[in-house]
Amino acid sequence: MQPGKGHLMIQFDAVHKRFPNGTTAVHDLSLEMPEGGVTVLVGSSGCGKTTTLRMINRMVDPTSGTIRVGGRDVLDQDAADLRRSIGYVIQQSGLFPHRTVLDNIATVPLLLGHGRRKARARAAELLETVGLTAESGKRYPHQLSGGQQQRVGVARALAADPPVLLMDEPFGAVDPVVRTQLQDELLRLQKELSKTIVFVTHDIDEAVRLGDQIAIFRTGGHLVQCATPSELLARPADDFVADFLGAERGLKLLSLTPLKDIPQAPAPEGGTWELALDAARRPLHWRTKNTGEPELPVRPLRDTDSLLAALNESIASPTGLVARVDADGALTGVTSRDEIHQHAGQAHAEARVAS
Ligand SMILES: Nc1ncnc2c1ncn2[C@@H]1O[C@H](COP(=O)(O)OP(=O)(O)O)[C@@H](O)[C@H]1O
Ligand SMILES: [Mg+2]
Repeated sequence: MQPGKGHLMIQFDAVHKRFPNGTTAVHDLSLEMPEGGVTVLVGSSGCGKTTTLRMINRMVDPTSGTIRVGGRDVLDQDAADLRRSIGYVIQQSGLFPHRTVLDNIATVPLLLGHGRRKARARAAELLETVGLTAESGKRYPHQLSGGQQQRVGVARALAADPPVLLMDEPFGAVDPVVRTQLQDELLRLQKELSKTIVFVTHDIDEAVRLGDQIAIFRTGGHLVQCATPSELLARPADDFVADFLGAERGLKLLSLTPLKDIPQAPAPEGGTWELALDAARRPLHWRTKNTGEPELPVRPLRDTDSLLAALNESIASPTGLVARVDADGALTGVTSRDEIHQHAGQAHAEARVAS
């Protein structure tokens, strides 16, 4: 969650959704989504994620309970206005096939009454924001790759500069490499834009990467647990959540745990191996006194790097020591493999407690 943005943008209070055919899609859901944060709804197919999302912008109305956006009951707001003021991105990008990419993005600004020129200028700006070339604006959606189409979908959702963005498995149909790129891109965008994002996925790794908080659903539209990724990984509420998080729960937790609080010692000098530094004290490589042995690479770590990165680096390092650097990349000290193991063990133990 973004610091300093305490208040709640979206609130579900005892919300039920039962469709006319008798299916209960959402069961007694109470959930709060803080302003400026990413809330990920995760769970297997049919557990009510899309229905939950669509109740926020009134594409579906609840059977009972209250949903507030910006403090106002959505049922008191005009459905069309609400939908226009909330960005919506879906898996099949939902682009108009016979309109150019630029015109697709300009659709909402036009609807909102911006003139054609202004709408197009805004669209051109957004193309760049989502990492597409100006040239791609002239193409038609089918002339773009799946990943590019999803970027256009995101640009279009951002066009009206909505405070809230709903994303329903937006990266579900693209290959893993492109998917990671799109996730990175979204994280970068979110740093700048601080939207209140509700993101649906059935991929727990995607949830852990993107979520400030993760809400796990179970069949029948039951919310099982809502917590930050680290809380969830360290303390899953029950076996269902633990299973859902997968066997690599401990590793995932390590990948989220920063090095920050782990002690450092002075870098060794005069031993068999030492760190070669440049003039600004940035580590260059490990060098040895033993003749004939090559220099070995060093990957210095910052406080924000993860325990998992440190564990990997300590295995690659000839001394088992990890070089720690400040924000400018200058050496601050080293941490031993034992020290890292010890802290990793603590994180693992915590993760095991509840399972
Ligand atoms: N319009 C509808 N009419 C009847 N049942 C529906 C409708 N939409 C969804 N459902 C049912 O509600 C449940 C939840 O669906 P959905 O919210 O789409 O789940 P998810 O997005 O998690 O896959 C499913 O059992 C689904 O079949
Ligand atoms: Mg769905």
